[in-house]
Amino acid sequence: MTDLHPLRERAASLDAADPLAALRAEFVLDPDVVAYLDGNSLGRLPVRTQERLATFVRDEWGGRLIRGWSEGWVDLPVVVGDEVGVLVGATAGQTVVADSTSVCLAKALHAAVSLVPGRDRLVVSTADFPTDRYLARRVAEGRGLELMEVDDVAAAIDDRTAVALVSHVDYRTGALLDLPGLTAQVHAAGAVVVWDLCHSAGVVPIDLDAAGVDLAVGCTYKYLNGGPGSPAFLYAASRHHARLEQPLPGWWSADDLFAMADEYRPAPGIRRMLTGTPPVAGLLAVQQGVSLATEAGVPAARAKSEALTAFCIEVLDELGLEVVTPRDPAQRGSHVTVRLHDARAVAERLTDRGVVPDFREPDLLRLGLAPLTTSFGELLDGLTVLAEVLDQVGPVG
Ligand SMILES: Cc1ncc(COP(=O)(O)O)c(C=O)c1O
Repeated sequence: MTDLHPLRERAASLDAADPLAALRAEFVLDPDVVAYLDGNSLGRLPVRTQERLATFVRDEWGGRLIRGWSEGWVDLPVVVGDEVGVLVGATAGQTVVADSTSVCLAKALHAAVSLVPGRDRLVVSTADFPTDRYLARRVAEGRGLELMEVDDVAAAIDDRTAVALVSHVDYRTGALLDLPGLTAQVHAAGAVVVWDLCHSAGVVPIDLDAAGVDLAVGCTYKYLNGGPGSPAFLYAASRHHARLEQPLPGWWSADDLFAMADEYRPAPGIRRMLTGTPPVAGLLAVQQGVSLATEAGVPAARAKSEALTAFCIEVLDELGLEVVTPRDPAQRGSHVTVRLHDARAVAERLTDRGVVPDFREPDLLRLGLAPLTTSFGELLDGLTVLAEVLDQVGPVG
Protein backbone atom coordinates (compact mmCIF):
# COMPACT_ATOMS: atom_id res chain seq x y z
CA MET A 1 0.00 0.00 0.00
CA THR A 2 1.25 3.50 -0.80
CA ASP A 3 2.60 5.13 2.34
CA LEU A 4 1.23 8.66 2.64
CA HIS A 5 2.96 9.39 5.94
CA PRO A 6 5.76 11.40 4.33
CA LEU A 7 3.09 13.91 3.23
CA ARG A 8 1.99 14.60 6.83
CA GLU A 9 4.54 17.35 7.36
CA ARG A 10 3.58 19.02 4.09
CA ALA A 11 -0.09 19.01 5.07
CA ALA A 12 0.78 20.43 8.50
CA SER A 13 2.86 23.24 7.04
CA LEU A 14 0.20 24.06 4.43
CA ASP A 15 -2.33 24.32 7.26
CA ALA A 16 0.04 26.43 9.36
CA ALA A 17 0.45 28.88 6.46
CA ASP A 18 -3.25 28.93 5.51
CA PRO A 19 -4.72 32.42 6.01
CA LEU A 20 -8.23 30.92 6.13
CA ALA A 21 -7.41 28.26 8.73
CA ALA A 22 -9.11 30.13 11.57
CA LEU A 23 -12.43 30.07 9.70
CA ARG A 24 -12.86 26.37 10.42
CA ALA A 25 -13.79 27.28 13.97
CA GLU A 26 -16.79 29.15 12.55
CA PHE A 27 -18.32 25.84 11.44
CA VAL A 28 -19.75 22.83 13.26
CA LEU A 29 -17.17 20.05 12.89
CA ASP A 30 -18.59 16.63 13.70
CA PRO A 31 -15.92 14.68 15.65
CA ASP A 32 -17.09 11.43 14.03
CA VAL A 33 -16.26 12.72 10.58
CA VAL A 34 -12.66 11.99 9.63
CA ALA A 35 -12.87 14.02 6.42
CA TYR A 36 -15.84 15.80 4.92
CA LEU A 37 -15.19 15.82 1.18
CA ASP A 38 -18.68 16.74 0.06
CA GLY A 39 -18.83 20.48 0.67
CA ASN A 40 -19.66 20.85 -3.03
CA SER A 41 -22.95 19.03 -2.45
CA LEU A 42 -23.85 20.36 0.98
CA GLY A 43 -21.57 22.78 2.80
CA ARG A 44 -20.94 22.50 6.52
CA LEU A 45 -23.18 24.23 9.05
CA PRO A 46 -21.90 27.62 10.25
CA VAL A 47 -22.04 28.08 14.03
CA ARG A 48 -23.57 31.51 13.52
CA THR A 49 -26.46 29.96 11.55
CA GLN A 50 -27.43 27.87 14.57
CA GLU A 51 -27.61 31.03 16.64
CA ARG A 52 -29.36 33.12 14.00
CA LEU A 53 -32.05 30.55 13.34
CA ALA A 54 -32.65 30.00 17.07
CA THR A 55 -33.14 33.75 17.51
CA PHE A 56 -35.39 33.90 14.46
CA VAL A 57 -37.60 31.08 15.69
CA ARG A 58 -37.82 32.36 19.25
CA ASP A 59 -37.98 36.14 18.87
CA GLU A 60 -39.03 36.87 15.30
CA TRP A 61 -41.36 34.10 14.25
CA GLY A 62 -42.48 33.41 17.83
CA GLY A 63 -42.47 37.01 18.99
CA ARG A 64 -43.46 39.03 15.98
CA LEU A 65 -45.58 36.67 13.88
CA ILE A 66 -47.12 38.42 10.85
CA ARG A 67 -45.52 41.74 11.84
CA GLY A 68 -42.17 40.25 10.86
CA TRP A 69 -42.98 40.75 7.18
CA SER A 70 -43.12 44.52 7.48
CA GLU A 71 -40.15 44.50 9.86
CA GLY A 72 -37.74 43.19 7.25
CA TRP A 73 -38.68 39.75 5.96
CA VAL A 74 -40.35 41.17 2.88
CA ASP A 75 -37.09 42.62 1.61
CA LEU A 76 -34.94 39.56 2.26
CA PRO A 77 -34.96 38.13 -1.30
CA VAL A 78 -33.41 41.35 -2.60
CA VAL A 79 -31.27 42.12 0.48
CA VAL A 80 -29.73 38.64 0.52
CA GLY A 81 -29.57 38.74 -3.27
CA ASP A 82 -27.38 41.84 -3.10
CA GLU A 83 -25.16 40.11 -0.55
CA VAL A 84 -24.73 37.11 -2.84
CA GLY A 85 -24.18 39.59 -5.67
CA VAL A 86 -21.03 40.87 -3.97
CA LEU A 87 -19.54 37.38 -4.33
CA VAL A 88 -20.33 37.09 -8.03
CA GLY A 89 -19.57 40.60 -9.21
CA ALA A 90 -23.13 41.90 -9.37
CA THR A 91 -23.88 45.42 -8.20
CA ALA A 92 -27.04 45.90 -6.16
CA GLY A 93 -30.50 45.36 -7.57
CA GLN A 94 -29.73 42.56 -10.01
CA THR A 95 -29.87 39.43 -7.85
CA VAL A 96 -32.68 37.77 -5.90
CA VAL A 97 -32.62 34.74 -3.65
CA ALA A 98 -35.74 32.56 -3.71
CA ASP A 99 -36.94 29.19 -4.99
CA SER A 100 -34.73 26.25 -5.94
CA THR A 101 -32.00 26.49 -8.55
CA SER A 102 -34.19 24.49 -10.91
CA VAL A 103 -37.11 26.91 -10.59
CA CYS A 104 -34.80 29.91 -10.94
CA LEU A 105 -33.31 28.31 -14.02
CA ALA A 106 -36.70 27.72 -15.58
CA LYS A 107 -37.51 31.39 -15.10
CA ALA A 108 -34.11 32.52 -16.37
CA LEU A 109 -34.31 30.37 -19.50
CA HIS A 110 -37.77 31.62 -20.40
CA ALA A 111 -36.71 35.20 -19.77
CA ALA A 112 -33.61 34.70 -21.89
CA VAL A 113 -35.61 33.30 -24.82
CA SER A 114 -37.92 36.32 -24.72
CA LEU A 115 -34.93 38.62 -25.06
CA VAL A 116 -33.97 37.20 -28.45
CA PRO A 117 -36.96 37.07 -30.78
CA GLY A 118 -36.34 35.67 -34.23
CA ARG A 119 -33.70 33.13 -33.23
CA ASP A 120 -34.61 29.45 -33.09
CA ARG A 121 -31.97 27.49 -31.19
CA LEU A 122 -31.24 26.82 -27.54
CA VAL A 123 -27.79 25.36 -26.91
CA VAL A 124 -26.95 23.27 -23.85
CA SER A 125 -24.09 20.96 -22.98
CA THR A 126 -24.51 17.18 -22.77
CA ALA A 127 -22.32 17.40 -19.66
CA ASP A 128 -24.73 19.68 -17.81
CA PHE A 129 -26.50 18.72 -14.61
CA PRO A 130 -29.72 16.80 -15.39
CA THR A 131 -32.03 19.56 -14.18
CA ASP A 132 -30.43 21.97 -16.66
CA ARG A 133 -30.94 19.59 -19.56
CA TYR A 134 -34.49 18.61 -18.60
CA LEU A 135 -35.47 22.25 -18.29
CA ALA A 136 -33.72 23.25 -21.50
CA ARG A 137 -35.63 20.54 -23.37
CA ARG A 138 -38.94 21.66 -21.92
CA VAL A 139 -38.32 25.35 -22.56
CA ALA A 140 -37.16 24.67 -26.12
CA GLU A 141 -40.25 22.56 -26.78
CA GLY A 142 -42.63 25.08 -25.22
CA ARG A 143 -41.10 28.08 -26.95
CA GLY A 144 -40.72 26.49 -30.37
CA LEU A 145 -36.92 26.38 -30.40
CA GLU A 146 -34.64 23.68 -31.68
CA LEU A 147 -32.62 22.21 -28.81
CA MET A 148 -28.94 21.62 -29.48
CA GLU A 149 -27.50 19.25 -26.86
CA VAL A 150 -23.82 19.28 -27.70
CA ASP A 151 -20.46 18.31 -26.20
CA ASP A 152 -18.90 21.66 -27.05
CA VAL A 153 -21.22 24.64 -26.51
CA ALA A 154 -18.69 27.17 -27.85
CA ALA A 155 -18.47 25.33 -31.17
CA ALA A 156 -22.26 25.21 -31.56
CA ILE A 157 -23.00 28.91 -31.21
CA ASP A 158 -23.95 30.61 -34.44
CA ASP A 159 -26.39 33.12 -35.90
CA ARG A 160 -29.36 30.87 -35.15
CA THR A 161 -28.58 30.66 -31.45
CA ALA A 162 -31.04 32.45 -29.20
CA VAL A 163 -29.74 31.25 -25.83
CA ALA A 164 -26.76 29.30 -24.57
CA LEU A 165 -27.04 27.66 -21.16
CA VAL A 166 -23.61 26.99 -19.71
CA SER A 167 -22.33 25.49 -16.46
CA HIS A 168 -19.32 27.36 -15.10
CA VAL A 169 -17.89 24.21 -13.49
CA ASP A 170 -18.68 20.72 -14.76
CA TYR A 171 -20.45 18.95 -11.86
CA ARG A 172 -18.70 15.70 -12.69
CA THR A 173 -15.16 16.49 -13.83
CA GLY A 174 -14.69 19.87 -12.13
CA ALA A 175 -13.62 21.49 -15.43
CA LEU A 176 -13.98 25.28 -15.28
CA LEU A 177 -15.05 27.26 -18.35
CA ASP A 178 -13.93 30.74 -19.35
CA LEU A 179 -16.96 32.80 -18.32
CA PRO A 180 -15.92 36.18 -19.79
CA GLY A 181 -14.62 34.59 -23.01
CA LEU A 182 -17.67 32.46 -23.66
CA THR A 183 -20.03 35.29 -22.74
CA ALA A 184 -18.27 37.53 -25.28
CA GLN A 185 -18.52 34.82 -27.92
CA VAL A 186 -22.25 34.34 -27.31
CA HIS A 187 -22.81 38.09 -27.55
CA ALA A 188 -20.75 38.37 -30.72
CA ALA A 189 -23.15 35.85 -32.26
CA GLY A 190 -26.13 38.00 -31.18
CA ALA A 191 -27.36 35.54 -28.56
CA VAL A 192 -27.76 35.68 -24.78
CA VAL A 193 -26.18 33.47 -22.15
CA VAL A 194 -27.50 31.92 -18.94
CA TRP A 195 -24.77 30.70 -16.58
CA ASP A 196 -25.20 27.98 -13.96
CA LEU A 197 -22.85 28.98 -11.13
CA CYS A 198 -23.77 26.21 -8.67
CA HIS A 199 -20.22 24.84 -8.44
CA SER A 200 -18.35 28.12 -8.63
CA ALA A 201 -20.20 30.73 -6.53
CA GLY A 202 -18.01 31.67 -3.58
CA VAL A 203 -14.91 29.75 -4.68
CA VAL A 204 -14.12 31.05 -8.17
CA PRO A 205 -13.73 34.79 -8.90
CA ILE A 206 -16.71 35.86 -11.00
CA ASP A 207 -17.52 39.32 -12.28
CA LEU A 208 -20.95 39.04 -13.86
CA ASP A 209 -21.28 42.77 -14.49
CA ALA A 210 -17.83 43.16 -16.02
CA ALA A 211 -18.36 40.13 -18.26
CA GLY A 212 -21.74 41.51 -19.38
CA VAL A 213 -23.52 38.26 -18.45
CA ASP A 214 -27.24 38.32 -19.23
CA LEU A 215 -28.66 35.92 -16.65
CA ALA A 216 -27.22 33.50 -14.11
CA VAL A 217 -28.41 31.14 -11.40
CA GLY A 218 -26.70 29.24 -8.63
CA CYS A 219 -27.39 27.36 -5.46
CA THR A 220 -26.47 28.42 -1.96
CA TYR A 221 -26.15 25.08 -0.16
CA LYS A 222 -22.74 24.15 -1.55
CA TYR A 223 -19.85 26.59 -1.03
CA LEU A 224 -22.17 29.25 0.41
CA ASN A 225 -23.16 26.99 3.31
CA GLY A 226 -26.86 27.95 3.28
CA GLY A 227 -28.06 24.50 4.40
CA PRO A 228 -30.09 21.70 2.83
CA GLY A 229 -32.61 23.09 0.36
CA SER A 230 -31.60 26.69 0.97
CA PRO A 231 -33.02 29.00 -1.73
CA ALA A 232 -31.06 29.69 -4.90
CA PHE A 233 -30.00 32.98 -6.47
CA LEU A 234 -30.98 34.43 -9.82
CA TYR A 235 -29.06 37.28 -11.47
CA ALA A 236 -30.44 39.32 -14.34
CA ALA A 237 -28.46 42.27 -15.71
CA SER A 238 -30.30 45.52 -15.10
CA ARG A 239 -30.11 46.46 -18.80
CA HIS A 240 -32.61 43.64 -19.44
CA HIS A 241 -35.06 44.30 -16.59
CA ALA A 242 -37.63 46.26 -18.53
CA ARG A 243 -37.94 43.43 -21.07
CA LEU A 244 -37.69 40.44 -18.74
CA GLU A 245 -40.66 38.12 -19.02
CA GLN A 246 -40.91 35.17 -16.72
CA PRO A 247 -43.20 32.14 -16.82
CA LEU A 248 -44.30 32.16 -13.17
CA PRO A 249 -45.57 35.66 -12.42
CA GLY A 250 -46.99 35.87 -8.94
CA TRP A 251 -47.89 38.50 -6.40
CA TRP A 252 -44.24 38.76 -5.31
CA SER A 253 -43.17 39.78 -8.79
CA ALA A 254 -45.94 42.33 -9.14
CA ASP A 255 -45.25 46.02 -9.07
CA ASP A 256 -47.15 46.54 -5.81
CA LEU A 257 -47.06 43.40 -3.72
CA PHE A 258 -49.86 44.39 -1.37
CA ALA A 259 -52.12 46.14 -3.90
CA MET A 260 -53.67 42.76 -4.81
CA ALA A 261 -54.44 44.32 -8.16
CA ASP A 262 -56.64 42.53 -10.65
CA GLU A 263 -54.28 43.31 -13.47
CA TYR A 264 -50.71 42.01 -13.23
CA ARG A 265 -48.03 44.64 -13.66
CA PRO A 266 -44.48 43.37 -13.18
CA ALA A 267 -42.16 45.11 -10.73
CA PRO A 268 -39.72 47.36 -12.58
CA GLY A 269 -36.56 45.82 -11.12
CA ILE A 270 -35.18 42.40 -10.27
CA ARG A 271 -38.18 41.63 -8.02
CA ARG A 272 -40.04 40.79 -11.22
CA MET A 273 -38.22 37.44 -11.17
CA LEU A 274 -39.80 36.39 -7.86
CA THR A 275 -43.05 34.42 -7.70
CA GLY A 276 -44.47 33.66 -4.26
CA THR A 277 -43.74 33.93 -0.54
CA PRO A 278 -40.03 33.33 0.02
CA PRO A 279 -38.61 30.94 2.65
CA VAL A 280 -37.55 33.31 5.44
CA ALA A 281 -35.64 30.77 7.56
CA GLY A 282 -33.74 29.63 4.47
CA LEU A 283 -32.93 33.21 3.48
CA LEU A 284 -31.56 33.97 6.95
CA ALA A 285 -29.41 30.84 6.77
CA VAL A 286 -28.08 31.88 3.36
CA GLN A 287 -27.25 35.27 4.82
CA GLN A 288 -25.04 33.66 7.48
CA GLY A 289 -23.20 31.42 5.04
CA VAL A 290 -22.70 34.30 2.63
CA SER A 291 -21.31 36.47 5.43
CA LEU A 292 -18.57 33.90 6.02
CA ALA A 293 -17.73 33.66 2.32
CA THR A 294 -17.57 37.45 2.20
CA GLU A 295 -15.29 37.61 5.24
CA ALA A 296 -12.97 35.05 3.63
CA GLY A 297 -13.08 36.86 0.29
CA VAL A 298 -13.34 35.04 -3.03
CA PRO A 299 -9.68 35.60 -4.03
CA ALA A 300 -8.44 33.99 -0.79
CA ALA A 301 -10.96 31.17 -1.15
CA ARG A 302 -9.80 30.61 -4.72
CA ALA A 303 -6.12 30.55 -3.71
CA LYS A 304 -6.78 27.94 -1.04
CA SER A 305 -9.06 25.97 -3.35
CA GLU A 306 -6.29 25.79 -5.96
CA ALA A 307 -3.81 24.62 -3.32
CA LEU A 308 -6.25 22.01 -1.96
CA THR A 309 -7.08 20.60 -5.38
CA ALA A 310 -3.36 20.54 -6.33
CA PHE A 311 -2.47 18.66 -3.13
CA CYS A 312 -5.37 16.28 -3.69
CA ILE A 313 -4.30 15.53 -7.28
CA GLU A 314 -0.72 14.98 -6.14
CA VAL A 315 -1.85 12.35 -3.62
CA LEU A 316 -4.25 10.71 -6.08
CA ASP A 317 -1.35 10.45 -8.53
CA GLU A 318 0.71 8.74 -5.79
CA LEU A 319 -2.13 6.27 -5.45
CA GLY A 320 -2.05 5.66 -9.20
CA LEU A 321 -5.66 6.72 -9.74
CA GLU A 322 -7.21 8.12 -12.93
CA VAL A 323 -7.87 11.80 -12.23
CA VAL A 324 -10.44 13.19 -14.67
CA THR A 325 -10.20 16.78 -13.38
CA PRO A 326 -8.05 19.20 -15.41
CA ARG A 327 -4.48 19.43 -14.11
CA ASP A 328 -4.16 23.11 -14.90
CA PRO A 329 -5.52 24.90 -11.80
CA ALA A 330 -6.88 27.69 -14.00
CA GLN A 331 -9.15 25.13 -15.64
CA ARG A 332 -10.72 23.52 -12.63
CA GLY A 333 -13.18 24.43 -9.88
CA SER A 334 -12.97 23.19 -6.30
CA HIS A 335 -13.62 19.47 -6.63
CA VAL A 336 -11.45 16.66 -7.90
CA THR A 337 -12.85 13.54 -9.50
CA VAL A 338 -11.33 10.12 -10.11
CA ARG A 339 -12.64 7.31 -12.25
CA LEU A 340 -12.79 3.93 -10.50
CA HIS A 341 -14.64 0.92 -11.82
CA ASP A 342 -16.01 0.22 -8.33
CA ALA A 343 -16.50 3.85 -7.30
CA ARG A 344 -19.85 3.15 -5.65
CA ALA A 345 -18.44 0.47 -3.35
CA VAL A 346 -15.42 2.63 -2.54
CA ALA A 347 -17.68 5.59 -1.70
CA GLU A 348 -19.78 3.41 0.60
CA ARG A 349 -16.72 2.06 2.42
CA LEU A 350 -15.30 5.53 2.81
CA THR A 351 -18.56 6.78 4.28
CA ASP A 352 -18.60 3.85 6.74
CA ARG A 353 -15.18 4.96 7.90
CA GLY A 354 -16.11 8.59 8.41
CA VAL A 355 -14.84 9.93 5.09
CA VAL A 356 -17.69 11.51 3.13
CA PRO A 357 -17.18 11.74 -0.66
CA ASP A 358 -19.67 11.84 -3.50
CA PHE A 359 -20.37 9.11 -6.00
CA ARG A 360 -21.57 10.02 -9.47
CA GLU A 361 -22.83 7.48 -11.95
CA PRO A 362 -21.43 5.38 -13.35
CA ASP A 363 -17.85 5.27 -12.06
CA LEU A 364 -16.84 8.61 -10.57
CA LEU A 365 -15.66 9.38 -7.06
CA ARG A 366 -15.92 13.12 -6.48
CA LEU A 367 -14.01 14.89 -3.74
CA GLY A 368 -15.34 18.35 -2.91
CA LEU A 369 -12.80 20.62 -1.25
CA ALA A 370 -14.40 23.61 0.45
CA PRO A 371 -11.73 26.22 1.12
CA LEU A 372 -13.48 27.69 4.16
CA THR A 373 -13.82 24.37 5.93
CA THR A 374 -11.48 21.74 4.47
CA SER A 375 -7.99 21.61 5.95
CA PHE A 376 -5.01 20.01 4.24
CA GLY A 377 -4.67 17.64 7.21
CA GLU A 378 -8.32 16.62 6.92
CA LEU A 379 -7.90 16.03 3.19
CA LEU A 380 -4.83 13.86 3.76
CA ASP A 381 -6.67 11.91 6.47
CA GLY A 382 -9.46 11.23 4.00
CA LEU A 383 -7.08 10.18 1.23
CA THR A 384 -5.21 7.91 3.65
CA VAL A 385 -8.46 6.09 4.36
CA LEU A 386 -9.07 5.99 0.60
CA ALA A 387 -5.69 4.27 0.14
CA GLU A 388 -6.65 1.70 2.78
CA VAL A 389 -10.07 1.10 1.25
CA LEU A 390 -8.56 0.65 -2.22
CA ASP A 391 -6.18 -1.89 -0.76
CA GLN A 392 -9.12 -3.84 0.63
CA VAL A 393 -11.33 -3.74 -2.45
CA GLY A 394 -8.46 -4.89 -4.64
CA PRO A 395 -7.34 -3.67 -8.05
CA VAL A 396 -9.19 -0.72 -9.47
CA GLY A 397 -9.42 0.57 -12.97
C1 LIG B 1 -24.81 22.35 -11.50
C2 LIG B 1 -26.17 22.21 -10.85
N1 LIG B 1 -27.23 22.79 -11.43
C3 LIG B 1 -28.46 22.66 -10.89
C4 LIG B 1 -28.67 21.96 -9.71
C5 LIG B 1 -30.07 21.82 -9.19
O1 LIG B 1 -30.26 22.54 -8.03
P1 LIG B 1 -31.63 22.52 -7.21
O2 LIG B 1 -31.77 21.14 -6.66
O3 LIG B 1 -31.41 23.56 -6.13
O4 LIG B 1 -32.75 22.86 -8.09
C6 LIG B 1 -27.58 21.36 -9.07
C7 LIG B 1 -27.76 20.62 -7.82
O5 LIG B 1 -26.86 20.10 -7.21
C8 LIG B 1 -26.29 21.48 -9.66
O6 LIG B 1 -25.21 20.92 -9.11
